[in-house]
Amino acid sequence: MNQLTFVGGGRMGEALIAGALRGSFVPADISVVEPDGARAQVLTQSYGVEVSADPASIARSSVVVLAVKPQVLMQVCEQLTPHLSPNTLIISIAAGVRTSALEAALPPGIAVVRVMPNTPAFVNEGMSVLSAGSQACDADMARVRQLFEPVGKVLVVDEADQDAVTAISGSGPAYFFYLVEAMEAAAVGLGLSAEVAHVLAVQTARGAGVMVSQSADSAETLRHNVTSPGGTTAAAIAQLDEHQVKQAVESAVKAAHQRSIELS
Ligand SMILES: NC(=O)c1ccc[n+]([C@@H]2O[C@H](COP(=O)([O-])OP(=O)(O)OC[C@H]3O[C@@H](n4cnc5c(N)ncnc54)[C@H](OP(=O)(O)O)[C@@H]3O)[C@@H](O)[C@H]2O)c1
Repeated sequence: MNQLTFVGGGRMGEALIAGALRGSFVPADISVVEPDGARAQVLTQSYGVEVSADPASIARSSVVVLAVKPQVLMQVCEQLTPHLSPNTLIISIAAGVRTSALEAALPPGIAVVRVMPNTPAFVNEGMSVLSAGSQACDADMARVRQLFEPVGKVLVVDEADQDAVTAISGSGPAYFFYLVEAMEAAAVGLGLSAEVAHVLAVQTARGAGVMVSQSADSAETLRHNVTSPGGTTAAAIAQLDEHQVKQAVESAVKAAHQRSIELS
């Protein structure tokens, strides 16, 4: 019996397959249901996993990861239902879809766990946030952890907090990419080449990220430590304050939170 099947072998599915293979899984443990022939070929060639377009292939799985877009998720549940065994654990990574909706679409009693991952999972620096559905037990949650820990950090929250989680760690990588883009553009505006601008912005983001994650000090303290009164950083921070960047971040996060509520 295959232990693990991914339904949807897109970008996030692929990141998790790669992570599972870096963890305790071998290719023979993993199969994928993926209708796109080109994607199927990429996954088979890159990871040696079995890929099929037939939803019936989940019949051999004890854990099924739903990694399709939220818009097709309910239709996918319908396709999978005849092939599920009562002990199959379902993990959904679809943004904004509640476990109660999945439980209603699947056979009664099936355990469902919802996870909000993020794309830094590709580089083993993901943030995956788990919420148990009504039928999921501690052993189910332990199996889900085993799958997501190889690609980064794992936290467990009440499902009611998942919209806030989506607004911070789910959408959050894009906020940092946005800042890097803006720094690169500003560096080019100061006369640096695009290549130099890229290296400076990216390495600075990386260095600051590693530092804030390893330091016992808060982000605010680290910022104060590099902001001498009357210095260059103080001049820059004064501009960020004048342009109300903190308030802009707050309203961006609120907009993502609201959108997540609307989608669910
Ligand atoms: N990417 C992120 O940053 C991120 C972060 C957190 C959560 N998520 C969640 O992860 C899920 C997948 O996102 P993604 O970015 O990986 O999307 P994606 O790249 O579009 O991958 C979805 C894959 O599922 C395939 N598919 C469509 N219908 C199917 C079916 N009936 N059976 C099996 N496979 C089917 C798609 O094939 P076709 O292309 O042929 O339709 C595609 O290859 C979404 O629910 C999203 O909310 C993504």
